[in-house]
Amino acid sequence: MDKGSVVRDLFDRIAGRYDMANRVMTGGMDGIWRRQAAALIDVPNDARLLDLCCGTGALAQVLARKVPEGEVVGIDFSPKMLDIARANQGYSNIRYLQGDVLTLPFADAYFDGATMGFSMRNVVDIGACLDEVRRVLKPGSSFVNLEIGKPANKLWRRTFYFYFYNVLPTLGGLVGGDKAAYRYLPQSLVNFPDADALSQLFKTSGFACVQCILLMGGAVTMHVGTTAQAPKHPHTIEAHVRALEEHAPAPA
Ligand SMILES: C[S@@+](CC[C@H](N)C(=O)[O-])C[C@H]1O[C@@H](n2cnc3c(N)ncnc32)[C@H](O)[C@@H]1O
Repeated sequence: MDKGSVVRDLFDRIAGRYDMANRVMTGGMDGIWRRQAAALIDVPNDARLLDLCCGTGALAQVLARKVPEGEVVGIDFSPKMLDIARANQGYSNIRYLQGDVLTLPFADAYFDGATMGFSMRNVVDIGACLDEVRRVLKPGSSFVNLEIGKPANKLWRRTFYFYFYNVLPTLGGLVGGDKAAYRYLPQSLVNFPDADALSQLFKTSGFACVQCILLMGGAVTMHVGTTAQAPKHPHTIEAHVRALEEHAPAPA
């Protein structure tokens, strides 16, 4: 089985108790972090937003409140996570789709903003995922990636890692009901890039402006990538012809 299928099956297994496990493992902070991430998307209330790896829809719901006259599309490849998302549905402006974020089924420049919550670690090819997000965003739009991080301060990193690699699998196993899954999940941080390296990957994928915001001393990170603005005077043939006509001398 390829890594993507392993990840999808894992989330199918833990979907039923995923939200509760998250709340317990983060002491309820996960909801606050999702709201902070959504607050970084600056769009009018009729915007069209994308939540990648939407899971049970927690972040998509925050976005839906932000764009009451717009639309939110949540995409995830786990059918069971999407079942929970649809069952949680109290929002007429969210559409859930099953699909892989490495090949997004949307036209170029389709969305006004995008988010991803606690999922980049699980994606098999981070560069391909970032390329896809940038492709479907309109010029001047932002993508916010909320993720677990690697604190720079040695003492805090040790304390956090002790919790993340030792306490959390036991807690997750007890509350989430699947010990093997919650032993696997923290391992996805081991080979994940640190905050600077992830910023670099955003830039490599063509995000013009990249900012990183650290929460909890870097245990949680928010990367904001903004696509380049469309040029004010596009250098098309038509624009040149128009400019020549505008500046042509008046007939004698
Ligand atoms: C840890 S959960 C996060 C769910 C949600 N974003 C949240 O904030 O709670 C990770 C999600 O990523 C999804 N996922 C991982 N790789 C994916 C891919 N390549 N395409 C679509 N979904 C993917 C999993 O199915 C799972 O629902």
